[in-house]
Amino acid sequence: MSAPGSSDLVIVANRLPVDRVETSNGTPGWRRSPGGLVTAIEPVMRANEGTWIGWPGGTEQDLKPFEDDGMDLVPMTMTDREIENFYEGFANGTLWPLYHDLVAKPEFHREWWDSYVAVNKRFAERAAEYASEDATVWVHDYQMQLVPQMLRELRPDLRIGFYLHIPFPPAELFQQLPWRRQILEGLLGADLVGFQLPGAAANFVRLVRQRVGHKTHRELIYLPDGRTVRAGAFPISIDAAGFEELSRSEPVAQRAAEIREALGSPRKVFLGIDRLDYTKGIYARLRAFSELIADGHFDVEDAVFVQVAVPSREQVEQYRILRDEIDRLVGRINGDLGRIGRPAISYLHSSYPREEMAALYRMADIMVVTPYRDGMNLVAKEYVACRFENDGALVLSEFAGAADELRQAWLINPYDINGMKAALLEAYQADGRELGRRMRAMRRTISQHDVAAWADSFMAELAAVRPTHGKAVRPARRS
Ligand code: F6P
Repeated sequence: MSAPGSSDLVIVANRLPVDRVETSNGTPGWRRSPGGLVTAIEPVMRANEGTWIGWPGGTEQDLKPFEDDGMDLVPMTMTDREIENFYEGFANGTLWPLYHDLVAKPEFHREWWDSYVAVNKRFAERAAEYASEDATVWVHDYQMQLVPQMLRELRPDLRIGFYLHIPFPPAELFQQLPWRRQILEGLLGADLVGFQLPGAAANFVRLVRQRVGHKTHRELIYLPDGRTVRAGAFPISIDAAGFEELSRSEPVAQRAAEIREALGSPRKVFLGIDRLDYTKGIYARLRAFSELIADGHFDVEDAVFVQVAVPSREQVEQYRILRDEIDRLVGRINGDLGRIGRPAISYLHSSYPREEMAALYRMADIMVVTPYRDGMNLVAKEYVACRFENDGALVLSEFAGAADELRQAWLINPYDINGMKAALLEAYQADGRELGRRMRAMRRTISQHDVAAWADSFMAELAAVRPTHGKAVRPARRS
């Protein structure tokens, strides 16, 4: 267990890789938290015996640092009020919709901002406490944007990296934020600020020039104190080999066959897997699918849709509204188009372990990923990784970061329902040759750019930006 002052690599993220839960016998236990962030950071954490600082969910107050599955974890506590104002409020009621192209309307409340400042300060103080002399601290995501500057003030010796997992908006949207300057200055505490796509890095540099007034040249920002900050794109990825191995395994193959049979062995299965979030375009995709049935292109004996919606941020009003809307839509579609024992849509409001996800990917013919805006979307990459037989079709929104790399998917504009219907139908009708051509190319891309390569390139760049300080961080890739 790492002691204060001893860690050469400290990860700061809103969430720990595990959540505090109640087990079936009523005692408290730990469960792996949802989302791609956790899987992405794990390899570099393990290679460096790092310390991870984050919130385990809930309001339990006196949790001590502990080790889980070989990782040193430092739990941060949050009060009910902070969950309301910091997590549900500023992080997910202000920043989340603002950074996702205003898909929902962001709310601006001063008490939410005050809570964001207070929580970021506590995380920064804890990171300062655990980091060794000249250590590297890697701060993650939109919940923690003030941490880099706060940490730099406490510990100027540290090498600090920041990575944003979600989109970073264009200046025209970002400048609505009453605290825009503070956020930009917060991020500038880092030596390297990483984004998913080059466009996001360019948005950030432009905003820094316009709003903070620092000199910039391409990806570099020159600060008056002599420091240089670099902004760059590091598209995140998945453990492609791990997913493929899982998908090839016998239990997963068996489970895939079982699911298909339980669905009534239709000719084709469409699949959607998302956190239940309004940015994901779940409503529009289910409508498009149902219209294809209503228009007579196929019926429920030919094709069904499996939609997994992972519960998320259930206390936030926009998420509750969305859940009701989807519940109603699924009920209506199944009522209108389903037959006995054969609903058009199998809707599951639940989260599943990796093995079950791999079985779903393996059994589905057409994966449908239609966000209005998404930083990357790792589900799209996981599907590709699991299709080792070079079959299966991916229908992908051009507004997901993954569309930059997975060019051979059927790319769609999720606002264009007719366009989406046409792509779903094309993917449904595509022959083996067409599917193979597209899938082989996408599989080449993701096997070359996996999550270990992502972490290593970020760390290498961070060391290059701040070469004279900091201890070396070991690569995440196993040789
Ligand atoms: O990157 C998006 C993100 O907010 C991650 O930080 C997190 O892993 C995931 O979505 C799940 O969100 P939440 O922590 O709000 O449940």
